[in-house]
Amino acid sequence: MNVPEEQENTIIWTLDPETPEASLLVEAGRLIRDGQLIAFPTETVYGLGANALDSAAVAKIFIAKGRPSYNPLIVHVVGAAMRQELVADWPEKAAKLADAFWPGPLTLILPKTSLVPDNVTAGGHTVAIREPANPIARGLISAANVPIAAPSANRSNEISPTLAKHVRRGLSGRIHGIIDGGACSAGIESTVIDLSGATPRILRPGPISQHMLEEIIGPVETTSGHLVPGHLPSPGMLAKHYSPRTQTVMRPLSAITGITGNRVVVSHIPVQCACRVIDLTDHPAEYARRIYAVLHELDQQAYEQIVIIEPPNTPDWAGIHDRLTRASHQGE
Ligand code: TXA
Ligand code: MG
Repeated sequence: MNVPEEQENTIIWTLDPETPEASLLVEAGRLIRDGQLIAFPTETVYGLGANALDSAAVAKIFIAKGRPSYNPLIVHVVGAAMRQELVADWPEKAAKLADAFWPGPLTLILPKTSLVPDNVTAGGHTVAIREPANPIARGLISAANVPIAAPSANRSNEISPTLAKHVRRGLSGRIHGIIDGGACSAGIESTVIDLSGATPRILRPGPISQHMLEEIIGPVETTSGHLVPGHLPSPGMLAKHYSPRTQTVMRPLSAITGITGNRVVVSHIPVQCACRVIDLTDHPAEYARRIYAVLHELDQQAYEQIVIIEPPNTPDWAGIHDRLTRASHQGE
């Protein structure tokens, strides 16, 4: 039996991501059912989970994160039966996308049933649902035997966690437990697509690209540009979101020679610079897997500024480009 560690009253369990210990999942699942908050790994980022059918448990998520109540949550399910209870309509396009990409990093917005508490959807008539692939996430949902509402397990407006230690830094002492299942494989949050309107619309780009979606269901719109609070199809569209505390800017490669002083440069291609350079790969999936951990680490150090060299603005990089733009947005 794995002996849990305790940090400021937050229990930390370490689980093998491929073959998670069933007895621990049963225990954590029971805690979720009982209304506790448990952070757990998914293939995208760590989530902060609560029983999605229990509005009091869901309310604790907003408090622990400092999340505004107008920002709705994603509900994580395993299997068709659990999903059917939550959505009032399951259009053909939803079925096709779920067949193609579930379990995986795609979130579908659909009309909700009355079973879904209002605070999960921020009072709206639609619910965001996703079936995750990570074996720990799946084991936890199955053990709890309830759908799990889970935003990313960070304080509101900070960057998402891709390792358990990132969750610990942000939420230790504020939540019941953290399941440490190692690094998240996709590294950025799921693609969110709204299927509740006439034309499918991407609200948040992510690991499943527009092209991949269009291959399955035909034309898909993308929400572009920044939106303002109060008029958000998806509050994750706020210009500033997912930011390190250290001032972070994005610059074209041509600006490299002017970058000096106590700065650190994050680049997708090798560069020569008077500052420390973190060389990330030019492969978008690998870059996505690593970028948040790099930003978390650099944020622990006393740099005056983090300078990110702008990666290509091509479809393959859309999810990354979106997150970097938000991370480097100046002002609120
Ligand atoms: O990969 C992910 O999606 C991770 C893991 C844990 O699953 N979760 C995640 O959750 O990123 P969160 O809360 O950080 O982001 C959820 C996004 C937000 O932008 C939220 O506004 C949007 O989904 N969203 C949730 N419900 C919605 C709804 N009914 N309509 C429109 N947007 C919604
Ligand atoms: Mg988030």
